[in-house]
Amino acid sequence: PLVLHVLGARPNFVKAAPVVNGLAALGVRQGIIHTGQHYDALMSDVFFADLGLPEPLANLGVGSGSHARQTAALLVGLEDIVQEHRPALVVVYGDVNSTLAAILVCAKLHVPTAHVEAGLRSFDREMPEEVNRVVTDALADMLFATSPEALSHLANEGVDPARVHLVGNPMIDSLFAALPKLDPAPVRERLGVPGRYAVATLHRPANVDDPEAARELVDAVLGVAEQVPVVVPLHPRGRQRLAEAGLVDRENLKIVDPLGYVDFLSLVRGAALVVTDSGGVQEETTVLGVPCLTVRQNTERPITVTHGTNRLVTPASLPAASKALADGAATPSGDLPPLWDGAAGPRIARVIEAWLRGDNLSPA
Ligand code: UD1
Ligand code: UDP
Repeated sequence: PLVLHVLGARPNFVKAAPVVNGLAALGVRQGIIHTGQHYDALMSDVFFADLGLPEPLANLGVGSGSHARQTAALLVGLEDIVQEHRPALVVVYGDVNSTLAAILVCAKLHVPTAHVEAGLRSFDREMPEEVNRVVTDALADMLFATSPEALSHLANEGVDPARVHLVGNPMIDSLFAALPKLDPAPVRERLGVPGRYAVATLHRPANVDDPEAARELVDAVLGVAEQVPVVVPLHPRGRQRLAEAGLVDRENLKIVDPLGYVDFLSLVRGAALVVTDSGGVQEETTVLGVPCLTVRQNTERPITVTHGTNRLVTPASLPAASKALADGAATPSGDLPPLWDGAAGPRIARVIEAWLRGDNLSPA
C-alpha cells in the first residue's frame, strides 16, 4: 500500500517532515505530491533541503490565483494524480487551500484520508483557513490533533471520537530536530542585525490585503522599531501592500526576503521578541521561550497563550505591549503543551501503519 502526502505551502513542509520520517522508519511505502501552491525557492525548495524531505513524485504547478481559481486548479490536478497513483491513504496537513482540495478530491474518489493538525478553530469564518479547517475535518477519516481543545471542537462538530488521535505537534518535532543547528550569529551577521532585535512576520489577508489595515499595522511595527531594531522576513503576499503602507528599509527596520527554515528559527531563537500573524510561529516561539505578540483578533492556537509565551495584540496596543520586552523584561516562562515533545511524527506513523496492516477495513 502507498501513502501519499499532499503538500503545497511553507507550513505544510514543516509539519510533514516528521510524519514522513516516522513512516520511513516503519518501512511504509510513501510519496509526496507537491501542489505548487508555493513555488518560490525561498517558500518551497529551501524547506525540502533544510528538513531533508524526499523529492516529490510530482509537482502540480498550480501556482497563485483567487481562491476559486487556485482551488479549481488544485482539484483538477489532484484528481488526476490520485487516480494515477491509487494510494491506500492520503495525508493532508494544516489549513491551506491544497489541504482543502486534497480532502475533497479523496472524499469523492473514496480514498481514505488523514488530517494532521485537526480540530484547531479560530471560530472566525472570515479567515479562509477556518473554512478549510472545518471542511477538512468534516471529511477526514483519521484526525490527528496537536492540542487537547481540538478534541472538544471535533466532538462538538459531530466527529466520531474513535477517528481522533491526540498525538502532539509535528511542527515541534521539526523544531526539536533543527535545534542543534539554530545559531543566531551567522544569519545576524549576514543580514547586518545587531545583538538585540525583534523579528516580525506578517501575511494574514486581514492584515495585509486591505490598505487601511496595512497602514495601521505598519505604523504599529514602526512604533516597535523605535524601541528595538526590527527584522522583517517578508512573505510575498504582503510585499507590495506593506511597502505602500511604509514598511520599507530604514534605520532600525530591515526588510528581507523570506528566510529558510533554519535561518528563520535561528533568528527567532536569538530575538528579544517576535511580532507575528503566523499560526506556526506562535507555536515555535512558545517552545523556544521567546515572547510572541500576535497581531490578530483571535487565534486557533489558544494553548500558546495559556501555556506559552504568546499574547494577542491589536495594532493600537502593539507598541505598548512590546515596550517592556524591548527594554529587556524577563521572558514569560511558559510550560510546554502536553505531548509537544518531539515524538508526534512517530506517534502518527504508528497509528497509520497499524491502520494499513488492518486491511483498510475502517480508518478509525
Ligand atoms: C497560504 C495559506 C495560509 C498560510 C500561508 C503560509 C491558503 C488559503 N492560505 O497563504 O493559510 O498561512 O500560505 O505561508 O492556503 N506568492 C509568491 N510566491 C510563492 C507563493 C505565493 O509570490 O511561492 C504570492 C502570490 O502573489 C500569491 C500570494 O503570495 O498570490 C498568496 O499566495 P497563496 O498561496 O495564495 O496564499 P498565502 O497568502 O501564501
Ligand atoms: N518560516 C520560515 N521563514 C520565514 C517565515 C516563516 O522558515 O521567513 C517558517 C516558520 O518557522 C514556520 C513556518 O514557516 O515553521 C510558518 O509558516 P507561515 O507563517 O508562512 O504559515 P502559517 O503557520 O501562518 O500557516
